[in-house]
Amino acid sequence: MIEQNKSSAGHVRLIDLPAVTDPRGDLTFIEGERHVPFPIRRVYYLYNVPVDAERGGHAHRDLEQVVFALSGSFRMKIDDGKTKSEYWLRDPRKGLYINRLIWREMDSFSQGAVCMVLASHPYDENDYFRDYDDFTLAVNEGVK
Ligand code: TYD
Repeated sequence: MIEQNKSSAGHVRLIDLPAVTDPRGDLTFIEGERHVPFPIRRVYYLYNVPVDAERGGHAHRDLEQVVFALSGSFRMKIDDGKTKSEYWLRDPRKGLYINRLIWREMDSFSQGAVCMVLASHPYDENDYFRDYDDFTLAVNEGVK
């Protein structure tokens, strides 16, 4: 079980998932509140992404997510409003946990890449910061 303090906004980390491997291939499984620190309320995936596409470009007020490269690879640029970092996702056994109040951008998708996202809530446009200045204002004010 992964311990997670819900109030610690602006937090990312890699999560290692289990894998059952045998000569027939590999199997990885994910259970909400066990391998990811929230009940899984939504799953979505990106595919047919042009190699020069940029996705993301937003943050969330409350949503927590874990992002996986099920196939291929892509880059995630992460910004907590103070520090920027980047992760190259290419291993379907490793997910990037992204807490609320994290600006994320995704690019450099390999051909045929599939990005799967597990989310803590259903889709809600009101949960998005789509303007970077609004996001940094919220971070600096400690606004939820
Ligand atoms: P968006 O979150 O901006 O995509 P990305 O971060 O990958 O660039 O969503 C793109 C569009 O898809 C937007 O019109 C909202 C819609 N959408 C849904 O309807 N449901 C969802 O679960 C998601 C993630 C997006």
